[in-house]
Amino acid sequence: MDTIKTIRSDFPIYSNSKKMCYFDYAATTFMPACVIEAWNDYHRTIGISVNRSKGKLANKAGEALRLSRSKISGFFDADRAYDLVFTKNATEALNMIASGIISEIGVGDIIITSVLEHHSAILPWMRVVEEKGAILVQIPLKDDGNLDYSILEGMGKHRVKVVCCTYVSNVTGHQVNVELLRDFARETGAYFFLDVSQAVSSKRIHMETLGADGYVMSAHKMYGPKNIGGLFLKKSLLPRFKPLILGGGMVWSTFGEKPIWADGVEKLEAGTFDVGLTIAWARACQYIEGITYEQIKDNNKSIHELLSNRLNAMKNFSMISSGSNQCENLISIIHNRLHAHDIEQWLDERGIVVRSGHMCSQSTMNAMGLTSLIRISWGLGVDAQRVDQLVDAFVEIDNL
Ligand SMILES: Cc1ncc(COP(=O)(O)O)c(C=O)c1O
Repeated sequence: MDTIKTIRSDFPIYSNSKKMCYFDYAATTFMPACVIEAWNDYHRTIGISVNRSKGKLANKAGEALRLSRSKISGFFDADRAYDLVFTKNATEALNMIASGIISEIGVGDIIITSVLEHHSAILPWMRVVEEKGAILVQIPLKDDGNLDYSILEGMGKHRVKVVCCTYVSNVTGHQVNVELLRDFARETGAYFFLDVSQAVSSKRIHMETLGADGYVMSAHKMYGPKNIGGLFLKKSLLPRFKPLILGGGMVWSTFGEKPIWADGVEKLEAGTFDVGLTIAWARACQYIEGITYEQIKDNNKSIHELLSNRLNAMKNFSMISSGSNQCENLISIIHNRLHAHDIEQWLDERGIVVRSGHMCSQSTMNAMGLTSLIRISWGLGVDAQRVDQLVDAFVEIDNL
């Protein structure tokens, strides 16, 4: 973990708050200085948005946007087969998917998700179900923390229109069987969308190889800035997608009875947005590339081992099962007497940040018969000292 100690100094927030003991990476990650600087530089030197004016500055902004789009796409192996539509975050991208294909869904059509979804991946489909009379099926959870895919076997295959699942659960860290879901979607002729929000900080995503029709994510979960994310959409789908947001920059003509949308990704990118954020996100990709996912994985694994060994030895805490295929950057636990919120507050008073509650995934909690838990999640910048501090605090709680 020595190199990781050096990496901590890349993050200005840790230099400004030396004692900060942050274990809520699954909610959001901090930005290293190079990412903050990338945003800053853009606003010091160019500062405007795109697709409005035609001058030299506008050309520079357009070129900067083109470059960051291409760098981010390349990072995810998406440049050949997918269009990257910039969104505010994963939530907006998920809403964009649901509204993009809503006109293709009819009464009795089946939309498949799982009980491991974040609310942002369920609510847009609930609206489609309400408006179109479709049926929402959530793949259930087994006691061992794995999904029970056998539910797919009895499905009326010709009625399945969409399979939209998370890659990694934000509650348990379980990693779903993407290949199985993709093959099922292909067999049924359904759309297959993957929410990779919880995977991107610790796992390389090869979009073309995974073969989904679309992917969503937020940059702020991979050391990038807040307020920018993406929908990576198979190129053939863009013309079929109905825009979610209507406004400037996304329309070719408003004459006549029907508007004619712009041809490219602009069709889904209405309104003025911050090009600086896209550059900062591209810089975050480069930052991860420099550190490598291999090193991130090794570090996550060693923290996971250490924490799970120590937590397993405690009398009053139980770890939530993450199934046989887990991302090793997250552990959720419950205490047999104390409420998760009280524990979070107690830790907060000691400078330790974890997350308590339902993690915006009530269906996951419901499937486990819980209303609240404590989630500990980590990534770059967490060193051995912070892990010890966290474990010591849990030992203290365990002995209460
Ligand atoms: C799996 C998953 N999907 C989607 C989201 C929504 O992300 P955002 O709030 O950045 O849109 C989250 C947030 O925690 C998440 O964990």
